[in-house]
Amino acid sequence: MYATKEGHTAKIAARLSLTLRSVGLDVDAVDASALPDGYTLDSFDAALLCAPIHQEEYPPRMIGFARTHAVWLTSHPSAFVSVSLSAAEPDDEEREGLLHCVSEFAIATGWQPARVEHVAGALVFSQYPFFVRQVMKLIARQHHLPTSGDHDYTDYARLEAFAREFGAEVLAGQA
Ligand SMILES: Cc1cc2nc3c(=O)[nH]c(=O)nc-3n(C[C@H](O)[C@H](O)[C@H](O)COP(=O)(O)O)c2cc1C
Repeated sequence: MYATKEGHTAKIAARLSLTLRSVGLDVDAVDASALPDGYTLDSFDAALLCAPIHQEEYPPRMIGFARTHAVWLTSHPSAFVSVSLSAAEPDDEEREGLLHCVSEFAIATGWQPARVEHVAGALVFSQYPFFVRQVMKLIARQHHLPTSGDHDYTDYARLEAFAREFGAEVLAGQA
């Protein structure tokens, strides 16, 4: 399950799905903004929720989904993949900011993820509308990051290692 604004978390969810399939799991990568009516997790053994941080918050659709399924998520193998620029090269302040975002998410949803994977996201100036571009230039400057062009900060080797570990946990539970 993923939510995305500029598409990077969808790319991360696709990579996670690919790795999980490669270890032998059946995977559904579902966009939180296109959920069929009455969607349930009943036919699944495990869930990964992937969501980006925008202005220090996760998308409302992901919050709503996690709140609706909090009991299921708590009682099955599950993890939360948080995508952000702060995760790129976090200093102490950014690390604290990330913990704060996750803790607000847990309060809002009633789901305290047993595992949280912080993944560095992307800067995509080619996709930002004018106003967002100005805001992102400011944010990028504060983080000593580029203020133009497109830049992918995700560590795909680490993402794959996380997926393999999670997949092994799920397979062990199925055995
Ligand atoms: C308008 C806007 C606000 C953002 N706010 C934050 C933020 O508060 N903290 C952070 O770490 N990253 C922030 N980011 C960076 C995003 O988390 C990052 O670009 C991520 O890759 C976006 O994922 P998506 O393409 O799936 O939407 C922001 C990005 C945008 C465009």
